[in-house]
Amino acid sequence: MAYNQTEVVLGGIAHIPLIIGMFYVVKALMYRGVDGKLAPFSFSYREAAQRRTSATDTATADVKPKKQSPSAPVVETASKPTPPAVPINLYKPKTPFEGTVQENYSLLKEGATGRVNHITFDLSGSDPHLSYVEGQSIGIIPAGEDANGKPHKLRLYSIASTRHGDNLEGKTVSLCVRQLQYEKEGQTINGVCSTYLCNINPGAKVKITGPVGKEMLLPEDEDANVIMLATGTGIAPMRTYLRRMFEPAERSKNGWKFAGKAWLFMGAPHTANLLYDDDFERYQRDFPDNFHYTKAISREQQNLKGGRMYIQDRVMEHSDEIFKMIENPKTHVYMCGLKGMEPGIDEAMVAAASAKGIDWAELRPQLKKAHRWHVETY
Ligand code: FAD
Ligand code: A2P
Repeated sequence: MAYNQTEVVLGGIAHIPLIIGMFYVVKALMYRGVDGKLAPFSFSYREAAQRRTSATDTATADVKPKKQSPSAPVVETASKPTPPAVPINLYKPKTPFEGTVQENYSLLKEGATGRVNHITFDLSGSDPHLSYVEGQSIGIIPAGEDANGKPHKLRLYSIASTRHGDNLEGKTVSLCVRQLQYEKEGQTINGVCSTYLCNINPGAKVKITGPVGKEMLLPEDEDANVIMLATGTGIAPMRTYLRRMFEPAERSKNGWKFAGKAWLFMGAPHTANLLYDDDFERYQRDFPDNFHYTKAISREQQNLKGGRMYIQDRVMEHSDEIFKMIENPKTHVYMCGLKGMEPGIDEAMVAAASAKGIDWAELRPQLKKAHRWHVETY
């Protein structure tokens, strides 16, 4: 049967929707896997959308690792949907917002060492509104001058409240601050900003900058798994995640129905130093299938070698389960707190990975590149 030229052209055009449709079906299968599960170490479009919130992320996200050894699984990346907005530097050091202290109370129980306070600032009147999301930090410029008569420089603090604030009215931000104290030549030295914050009274005005940070953002995916490794005040971002996931009033407000697994490893010197412990215990009771809470109380518990129990010792104890979770492309790991914990966690991961025949030194950068390994230590 013969076709004239017009019929051939029209016939070709009529196939275009079919070809586009097939393209999307193939693409969906590539990302979902034929059995409906995501392929190992790939990550979904929704995660990709969230990860693309960073300009630097955008620069590296689509680059596949160049060298692969047979022992290191390939962590795939996906293409680019539009990112949700993450506020950055709405207030800069030269033009900070003056917030008002709403409350300031100790988070420690009888018998604890040191001083750690929960401090809430009222942001009413900020224009533009000083908005932020879970995982970001703000800067605080302490009052007064340094030894050279210059205004103090800002210090960063991880935000400890969800974007809705502790009272859910969306007009406050809270911090979890440890007073820095150390001995030098027989004298006790108090950190400038942390002491200023721990001593501050409700009603006082405080210069606030930011928000900043895109490293510790939570994935949008309600089915994501989140492993959290925190020491001391490193719990601040984890508190925002856990409130967003499990605090009933916050859940109704945010409409985000977290259905994945969250596992918090928390390190503190004494039981009395555990921060927000009652809330986390309650979440574990109320959401036993979704939340696991493991504590390393360094000065009350011992590791297998008879030394202080640190979170890396707990990571080792649970390395099989943790690694199973990490193999799932929906799993993110967040680490926050003492800089000193990084080598210890790395060592634990090396051992856990090698038990599975995987080279951690190769896998970690891949996880980092896939935006599933998040670190903020100080
Ligand atoms: P400073 O007066 O600035 O003194 C600090 C200086 O003292 C150090 O630079 C060092 O030179 C010296 N020093 C410290 N320890 C010793 C020692 N043992 N011996 C001798 N010298 C010493 N802190 C929190 O409490 N909560 C948070 O949520 C939090 N989040 C942070 C998030 C980020 C991204 C970053 C970068 C830091 C965060 N910090 C947090 C730390 C915070 O920014 C300050 O560094 C901390 O509060 C100390 O500031 P300061 O002004 O009190 O101390
Ligand atoms: P320790 O101080 O007993 O050696 P905080 O900030 O409230 O002091 O809590 C920090 C927790 O982290 C403490 O339990 C502390 O133990 C622990 N810690 C100290 N150094 C490390 C490290 N290198 N790795 C992991 N945890 C650490």
